Amino acid sequence: MDSTTLQKARAYEAQHGAAIPAAERPAYHLTPYIGWMNDPNGFSFYQGKYHLFYQYYPYGTFWGPMHWGHAVSTDLLHWDYLPAALAPDSPSDKDGCFSGSAAELPDGRQLLLYTSVRREEQPDGKTRDVQTQSVAVGDGIHYEKPFQTPVLDERHLPDGFSRFDFRDPKIWQEPDGSYSAVLVGQGKTEGGAALLFHSADGFRWEYVTILDASRGEYGVMWECPDFFELDGKQVLMVGPMEMQARDEFHNGHCVIALIGSYDPVNHRFVRENVQLMDEGIDFYATQTMQAPDGRRIMTAWMQAWAGISDQPHGAKWFGQTICPRELHIRDGRLIQTPVRELDAAHGARVLHENVLMEGETALEGIGGRVADLRVTITPEGKECRAFTIKLAADGAHSTTLTYEPRTRRLILDRSQAGFHQDIVHLRSCTVHSQSDTLSLRILLDRNSIEVFLNGGEQTMTACIYTPPEAERITFAADGAARVTVEQYALHL
Ligand code: FRU
Repeated sequence: MDSTTLQKARAYEAQHGAAIPAAERPAYHLTPYIGWMNDPNGFSFYQGKYHLFYQYYPYGTFWGPMHWGHAVSTDLLHWDYLPAALAPDSPSDKDGCFSGSAAELPDGRQLLLYTSVRREEQPDGKTRDVQTQSVAVGDGIHYEKPFQTPVLDERHLPDGFSRFDFRDPKIWQEPDGSYSAVLVGQGKTEGGAALLFHSADGFRWEYVTILDASRGEYGVMWECPDFFELDGKQVLMVGPMEMQARDEFHNGHCVIALIGSYDPVNHRFVRENVQLMDEGIDFYATQTMQAPDGRRIMTAWMQAWAGISDQPHGAKWFGQTICPRELHIRDGRLIQTPVRELDAAHGARVLHENVLMEGETALEGIGGRVADLRVTITPEGKECRAFTIKLAADGAHSTTLTYEPRTRRLILDRSQAGFHQDIVHLRSCTVHSQSDTLSLRILLDRNSIEVFLNGGEQTMTACIYTPPEAERITFAADGAARVTVEQYALHL
């Protein structure tokens, strides 16, 4: 039975969400049907379609009692909205259905495993959110909550772990048909930690082990964990909160991949390498799934918690997901590339090959706000101090990517992109590749840019809230550089 809370959300979004013109949304990035979105949830392939759920508050563009919104796609680019899947309407989740994931049951139904939040007065008089895990079972549109009680709660936690920070289950099916899930918890000595659980049927769960933990090194708490095998390595992906800046890691929230090996018999994960997943501004709460063709595909919330005060002006939605990315491991590091479905959306191609650039240059046919742009930059000798790509530009606005070959820094600057608030607008990264040539693939989609460096060895992602008329793309060399520019229009 759909509850009144769910029915109300479904009626509201059907009326107000459906009224938002397509032109007021990005062309191939998922936004909430109406209102607020944060983490993507339940990313899965079920009954012939990709399903993407999301943390959702339909009634305003701010975080409120969490529902799960729902959309489906056959190509990971075009999303059709389905009615909201979950609402905070049972005793264990009355204050929110937080993040979670999806798996298929042997009888063909879909299982959603999510964090159920219940606000409770504590013995000291303070009110705290108690976090437990609950299930919902459905047919891809309607989901029932079969139990009144959570399937995982504080009794499942190892000693010293907090019942207030226990969330974001990521479930997967084992080859023998049983289920495993990784969750985040907070231990007295471990700090943020990734906890492994196991279940024969998806409903009765038992604690297995601590896979890895922050221990003060990677933030105070972790969120949105994922755990999967990839190209012969094991990846544990988490979102540390309140990191201290050092090396490539910036302050605050980010996503890191702990890459290593895993012994599935003794459940021992050995960390070998830690990598920052995205070096831009807006990237958090990743979730992956395995496509029917075997690809490991990742989505994420294309937003930073620290930046939510600035929103697209006049829009009735807030929050979007990244263009899904295929993941691979090369030389012990994760490589990210846009899903190949994007290539199938390629329209007209414009190519300018090996152009010698000095000063500011506009190129015939290069511009727009929805495009797949590739730029290959080879500085001409030591005199090339900087090379800048100016995107989404008009007289008053621009977003720039500046490459400084001498320091190998790539600087993303969106301070002229139409924002009103004093949030982070500038980030830079050190290009890892030692090659003389820097190759960039830049996905533009109205309100965002996603930059893939050197075939996806590094990425930088950011939202831009620039007026749609700001369509100019220009190039400028301080010194001289040889540049190849290739742009594909996208037919979506
Ligand atoms: C991450 C997060 C999750 C939580 C959800 C609540 O962005 O804080 O840990 O489940 O958002 O909306």
